[in-house]
Amino acid sequence: MLRFLLVLLMFFRSPPSLGFRFVVSPCASLISPPVRSLLPSSNPKFRSDSLLRLYSSSADTPPPAPVSSDNINNDDDESRRTQNKNANKNSKQNRRDNIGKAKAVDRGQYQNRYVHRPNNPLSGLPDTSKPFTVLGIETSCDDTGVAVVESTGKILGESIASQAGIHENFGGIVPGLAKEAHAANIQATIADALDKAGMDVRDVDAIAVTVGPGLEICLRVGCEAAKTLAIAHSKPFVGVHHLEAHILMSRLNSSLEFPFLSLLVSGGHCQLLRCDGIGSYEVIGGTLDDSLGEAYDKVARMLNLPVGGGGGPAVEALAKNGDPSVVKLPIPMQHRKDCDFSFAGLKNAFRMAVNKMKEIRGLEEGGDLAEQDKADLAASFQNVAIKHLEQRLKLAISNTKRDTPAIDKLVVVGGVAANKAIRESLSNICEANEWDFFVPEARLCTDNGVMAAWAGIEKINCNISDVPTTQEVFARYPFSNN
Ligand code: KG4
Ligand code: ZN
Repeated sequence: MLRFLLVLLMFFRSPPSLGFRFVVSPCASLISPPVRSLLPSSNPKFRSDSLLRLYSSSADTPPPAPVSSDNINNDDDESRRTQNKNANKNSKQNRRDNIGKAKAVDRGQYQNRYVHRPNNPLSGLPDTSKPFTVLGIETSCDDTGVAVVESTGKILGESIASQAGIHENFGGIVPGLAKEAHAANIQATIADALDKAGMDVRDVDAIAVTVGPGLEICLRVGCEAAKTLAIAHSKPFVGVHHLEAHILMSRLNSSLEFPFLSLLVSGGHCQLLRCDGIGSYEVIGGTLDDSLGEAYDKVARMLNLPVGGGGGPAVEALAKNGDPSVVKLPIPMQHRKDCDFSFAGLKNAFRMAVNKMKEIRGLEEGGDLAEQDKADLAASFQNVAIKHLEQRLKLAISNTKRDTPAIDKLVVVGGVAANKAIRESLSNICEANEWDFFVPEARLCTDNGVMAAWAGIEKINCNISDVPTTQEVFARYPFSNN
């Protein structure tokens, strides 16, 4: 509550261009957003069953049922010992059962379940009978992204405050610093995006914000800002799932219709998903350990490349000048006949290859390799990473042809989808299989405000919105049906 008040305070001191001129209490009685029925539409993109779980107010979420303690006699040591023994046995068994499977979060083990309240008077929708505009805010990780997008797909204004310089020296994202930078930049980024769109916040028709998954303290900065704006200006409000927003970017200004297969490759995730509609996704493969973006970032660090804002682009640039046949690295999980991924083994093999190369060149462990050696190493890593993606994708396509022949399209999304070599190789696989291939424009693959705004538009088009007064953020926020 205190944090919310502080954010409110921060905004009331904001420049007049954002329109924060009145002190508005978040009290429900002061809010009168345009209310429209949230009944399921006839839109084929609408999947009521999964939406029930995903898209209603998080405040309506009943807390998980507590484990009943009725039958536990706390005074009875023997009974407690037996209880503990059984619990240990169960958790060991659980761990054993899960060895060799994709990460729990990728299997949807932490699935949130919501109760749908279609007629909640606090949620609202803009008039969708004509083009409408959405202000989108994205602060799930290390960049503050804001954009104003029209429902036609036109990007009206866009602004991004990069934190690349802040985290560079730490070799990874420092959550506390990321949060501080978001808090410091959010107002100016919102003002800049609106300014570029030639609009005032009062002119936009709705506000969308990423509410998970991501760094909780970072998500909260964007979410509180969006809630404050929505409440202060009585705007419809939409909470957006970051991964869904990545996937939906492939539908911005494209002819892509559901259903399709999606390969999501970002800094935090590596998943193959069957996408049946807005809010309806099934994970068919996940990573057992690292994501591909993480592997690129670690490789960049091992080669002493710039890693601020992600090491992927530096590795890709270097790999162009390298020979992938110079260093032999193993292709992960070649003999597994499923669609899961693994990058930890490749990362270790890469570390050993770097050390070996240093040994051959007579360098100390901290010494820096020559540019050509680095380029050969980068090319070998990228080559094997792509082979791994190709193998899993070929399997996924052949399974899909057998089980779901209606699907004949692939989308590749997430930060790593900006990689040209990956785009080309996956596009070739689609061509060989007579599948259509979709990938967002490279600059829109990495995190940005457009994705939050566009996902908001897609949800609004399915008559979905959320309640700003009670919206929460979720560090873990799986969205699959399985
Ligand atoms: O989607 P994203 O911006 O953030 C997350 O949601 O995680 O993805 C960031 C990841 C980073 O690991 C970054 O190194 C990687 O995407 N990345 C790339 C490229 N551009 C960004 N990886 C390989 N090649 C690129 N060109
Ligand atoms: Zn992302």
